[in-house]
Amino acid sequence: MSEHNHPDTLTAIYEYWNAHTLGFQYVTDPKIEAGSPEFFRHIRPWMNPYKFPWIMERIKREARLLKEKHLLEIGCGMGYDSLEFLKRGVKVTATDLTPNAVEMARQHFAVEGVQAEDIRVESVLNLSFADETFDAVWANGVVHATGNTPLAFREIRRVLKTGGRAIISHFYRKPSWMYSLKQIPAVNIEFEQEDPPVNDFFSESEIERMFEGFEIVEKAREHYRLLPVCRSGIKAVLYNYGLKPFYNALPAGFAKRFAYKYSITGVKL
Ligand SMILES: C[S@@+](CC[C@H](N)C(=O)[O-])C[C@H]1O[C@@H](n2cnc3c(N)ncnc32)[C@H](O)[C@@H]1O
Repeated sequence: MSEHNHPDTLTAIYEYWNAHTLGFQYVTDPKIEAGSPEFFRHIRPWMNPYKFPWIMERIKREARLLKEKHLLEIGCGMGYDSLEFLKRGVKVTATDLTPNAVEMARQHFAVEGVQAEDIRVESVLNLSFADETFDAVWANGVVHATGNTPLAFREIRRVLKTGGRAIISHFYRKPSWMYSLKQIPAVNIEFEQEDPPVNDFFSESEIERMFEGFEIVEKAREHYRLLPVCRSGIKAVLYNYGLKPFYNALPAGFAKRFAYKYSITGVKL
């Protein structure tokens, strides 16, 4: 058993994410009540579909194929991705490892007036769904944080129908600027105070090998523009006034070589 499969590691992953639902690090006004309509509006610009137009484009494209079909989101966090599928007529079961994320997603859907098929706690390492349940699985920035990518992929493949689509995004890649940043001691890439216990970085070929039993139908490395971070102190200054303008000034084709996301859509054979 690898180090990442150790029960202590699984507990640490659970505890970290239950205390750090993605989105809270972008709150700049502590007076805003968590779960309120204002709260979800406030952090929205930093969340993936709105921050990265290519993610929204992918959601729109997939939603056209999946209208009335059933998509499982793994690691839904506050549910922004699921929300965009729901708005476009896709049936969604939204899941996350942690009850706090599930509760935030529930409140978010209520605020937006959308209805998911189900919202519940699930680990991708041990999904409770029957074989061949879903038409698609969406996991954005999740599988590399589980500590057991092969098992996660086996589970994803198991719950997909034959011909179903696995749309897996937000893998880190080396070389990438994010990977390099992570090598600097005391620089955290998720929350300012603490990073997740597991954040694996993979090369393109390692990621492609995970799609055994799938036909890869799309690959994307389009994420290269950096956004301001709402953090304080010298690290934020260096990022906002050093790395960000420098990186964003690079020609797109060159900058993409150092992009930290690699997204693949595979169809289950
Ligand atoms: C970086 S956040 C991404 C959240 C969301 N997908 C987004 O893009 O806003 C990683 C998420 O993966 C979830 N996660 C970690 N391990 C998981 C597991 N084994 N099964 C399901 N979700 C998991 C965490 O609870 C967390 O919500």
